[in-house]
Amino acid sequence: MKVLVTGGAGFIGSNVAKILEGRGDKVFILDNFSHSSYKNLLDLKADVICGDITDQSLYNKLPSVDAVVHEAAITDTTLLDDTMMMNVNYNGSKNVLNFCLNNNIPLVYASSAGVYGESKPPMREEEGLTPHNTYGYSKFLFDCHVKTIFKDPSSPRIVGLRYFNVYGPREYHKGLAASMTYQLYLQMISGKSPRVFKHGEQKRDFIYVKDVARITVEALVSSESAILNVGTGTPRSFNDIIAAINQALKTDLKPDYFDNPYGDKYQNFTQADTSLLSKILKTQAKFSLEEGISDYINFHLEKK
Ligand SMILES: NC(=O)c1ccc[n+]([C@@H]2O[C@H](COP(=O)([O-])OP(=O)(O)OC[C@H]3O[C@@H](n4cnc5c(N)ncnc54)[C@H](O)[C@@H]3O)[C@@H](O)[C@H]2O)c1
Repeated sequence: MKVLVTGGAGFIGSNVAKILEGRGDKVFILDNFSHSSYKNLLDLKADVICGDITDQSLYNKLPSVDAVVHEAAITDTTLLDDTMMMNVNYNGSKNVLNFCLNNNIPLVYASSAGVYGESKPPMREEEGLTPHNTYGYSKFLFDCHVKTIFKDPSSPRIVGLRYFNVYGPREYHKGLAASMTYQLYLQMISGKSPRVFKHGEQKRDFIYVKDVARITVEALVSSESAILNVGTGTPRSFNDIIAAINQALKTDLKPDYFDNPYGDKYQNFTQADTSLLSKILKTQAKFSLEEGISDYINFHLEKK
């Protein structure tokens, strides 16, 4: 199978590309390298196309492929340039969708738990769509657009995946937008007390990137079009992450709590309802938080 992975030089996209290549697929990566690392590409054989998804003239120059995984987006949720956020995440995504519709090939794309805002957990795909920021809104608007295409029986399969909080290898280029697990690991490996918002009991649905990438690849052969949550279904606290890192590093560092500056723009609790994921893709996350963090930290320690 020939697969185009947009955002393939980024965190999740490069993990997806790795799995695709591991099973013998030919991968083409399309990325503008605005928020990525070339290091994510060093162990891939993929053909790399340096281009921007908002550039309409790009699409007739792309190679012929059998499917598209669309991960490219502005992923820094604190970015203040709303015009840029909407242009890349909404207009750019519509360009990718049109490429798939014009070529009649399936599309699996990254949506986000950011569409849910503070809605009542567990978050279900059809409920509580109240994004808290322009990032969440850009993902929400594209989901709404895609749903209008679902009604056309002649359209190729389109699967939107609402990833919850993803952590794992290849996220280092993301800086402050990288996962809490990575930020806390960096502090703790250098012997510092891990710093978290008071009092570390905010709960999120943290999912390991190896599960996310595997589920994304499985969605390429979905029997139907759908928008699905991709989480573990089990919310865990920041204090749990600290305990798991302490366990993996064999340390006993105590948290240093501080006030949350984001106020009501902050998602204090996320939990995916994963029943639609089970029903449609017949799959679930396999790594618990402790297993994911242990695998991630072993990966770091092996590289030292
Ligand atoms: N990491 C998470 O926890 C998480 C959670 C929910 C949803 N998502 C979604 O998953 C997808 C992948 O996220 P990630 O964490 O790997 O982020 P990332 O920032 O590492 O990857 C995004 C990639 O897109 C590229 N890109 C940005 N703008 C582009 C453009 N205009 N044209 C071409 N390439 C462009 C960047 O250079 C980068 O390589 C995104 O759509 C994101 O919104 C991620």
